Formats: sequence, C-alpha cells, structure tokens
Amino acid sequence: MMAEAAKLLARSKFAIAFTGAGISAESGVPTFRGKDGLWMRYRPEELATPEAFSRNPRLVWDFYKWRMKLIAKARPNRAHYALAKLEEMGILKAVITQNVDDLHREAGTKNLIELHGNIFRVRCTSCDYRENLKESCSLEEFLREELPKCPNCGSLLRPDVVWFGEPLPEEELSEAFKLARRADLILVIGTSGLVYPAAYIPYIVKENGGIVIEINVEESALTPIADIFLRGKAGEVMGTLLEEVKKILD
Ligand code: OAD
Ligand code: ZN
Repeated sequence: MMAEAAKLLARSKFAIAFTGAGISAESGVPTFRGKDGLWMRYRPEELATPEAFSRNPRLVWDFYKWRMKLIAKARPNRAHYALAKLEEMGILKAVITQNVDDLHREAGTKNLIELHGNIFRVRCTSCDYRENLKESCSLEEFLREELPKCPNCGSLLRPDVVWFGEPLPEEELSEAFKLARRADLILVIGTSGLVYPAAYIPYIVKENGGIVIEINVEESALTPIADIFLRGKAGEVMGTLLEEVKKILD
C-alpha cells in the first residue's frame, strides 16, 4: 500500500492535499469529532454560530481565546513538514485545509488555501477592519481584552473563521474547486469528511479521474472513494511516504 502510494505520488503531475483536524492532532490541537473531540465536550451551536455570538459574545470569545492560546503553543508535526517538502520538491501543488491553526503556513507550505479561515485573524462585525494578530505581534495583548473592539469604529470584533450556517470565503472555495478539477491525485489527511462544501473536494478529484489517497487513523466518510487507504497517524504515515517518494526520485 505504502509503496504503491509513493509510486503514484512520485509519478503524479498535479498532486494536491486536503487536510482536516487529524493532521494537527499530533501537534496537540484537539479534533472536533471522536472521543476527545471538541464537539463531544462543547455544543457547536452554542459556540460556533453567528446566533451564539450575538446571544453571548463573551462565551464565544472565551472559547476562541482558549483555542488561540492552545494553538499558539502548538508546533507543526512531521505531516505538515512532509507536505511543505513535497511542495518544495515540485510534487505537491497546493494544500487545501479546513484547519484554522496556521500550522501548514508555519511548516512552510506556500500555496495554502484556508477554507474555514484562520484563528489568528480577527475582523470587525461592522466595518472592513481586519487584523492578523500573529503578524501584528499583538496576540498577548489581545488575549487580555475581555471583549475585543474595533480600533476603527468601536464595534465588536469577531474571529475570522467560518461558523456553522455561514458561507465559505468565495475566492478560497472557487480556487479549491479549480485545483480539485485539475488534480490527478489528492492526499486526504485527517478529516472525517462530514462537513460540506469542503468535503466535495475529494469527490471532484475522483470524478475527474484523479487518484484519492487517504491517510487516517480510522475509516471516514470519504474512505469509500479512496483508491488507497493508509491507516495510521498523519505524522508517521506522511514521514514514511515522503521517504519512499525521495527514494523513488533519487
Ligand atoms: P474531525 O474532528 O471531524 O475529524 C478528524 C479526523 O481526523 C477523524 O477522521 C479522525 O479519525 C482523524 N484523526 C485523528 N487523529 C489523527 C491522526 N493523528 N492522524 C490522522 N488522522 C487522525 O475534523 P475535520 O474533518 O477537520 O469546521 O472537521 C471538519 C470541520 O468540522 C472543521 O473544519 C470544523 C468542524 O466543525 C469549522 O470550523 C467550520
Ligand atoms: Zn470596525
């Protein structure tokens, strides 16, 4: 299985990756579903919807600040680095992620499409104000504010992430679909494949004749369309896969 996957990847002309929370699990970032998942402990409709935010912005901000702190301490793992390396080698053309944790960028991935936003970005609920707290180095200061307000207009700021019931960012989604139509291979890593429209991406690749290689610790909703299923932790499997690809190309 691993050898076959490495051969297909090494021979591919336009490979892309589609990632979910499972790729960051080994970095200590909790996933959403499954036994230790966030949505087992918290109700998403109370924390990750526009209605929840207008009802109780403090509760929602407390949840996001907790995640910001946790994620700020997390470092990319071997899976993130393997994808960055595969891009550098010219094999991988893009990473499309559902994650908001910034770990792909930190690992060095250049062509990154963030479908669900980024936890270090905030935006105003009234005006066009946006800020990347990592780039402006103001995360610590920000975390001390109880209810963050817009420096331009004084309205409430919100996390620049996609909540349930909200549309995905248009440009990112259309770019992701475009890449999926073009791809001859997709690595589907650490996602339950239950959240749409993101989960269409592997189907688009498949429908256009591309190969689907899935990496997950267990079967997912996308496993039925996977040509190859590599069972295991993303960091371990991707580390091995990268080594195998290098051997083929050496
Ligand atoms: P989920 O929590 O739904 O799924 C995580 C997947 O990762 C599961 O299939 C696990 O089996 C797998 N997994 C766990 N640990 C792993 C490891 N070490 N290596 C490989 N796989 C592992 O997360 P997502 O599919 O990303 O949406 O969830 C999709 C969306 O639902 C998220 O983007 C978020 C959430 O609500 C928004 O925030 C809009
Ligand atoms: Zn504003």
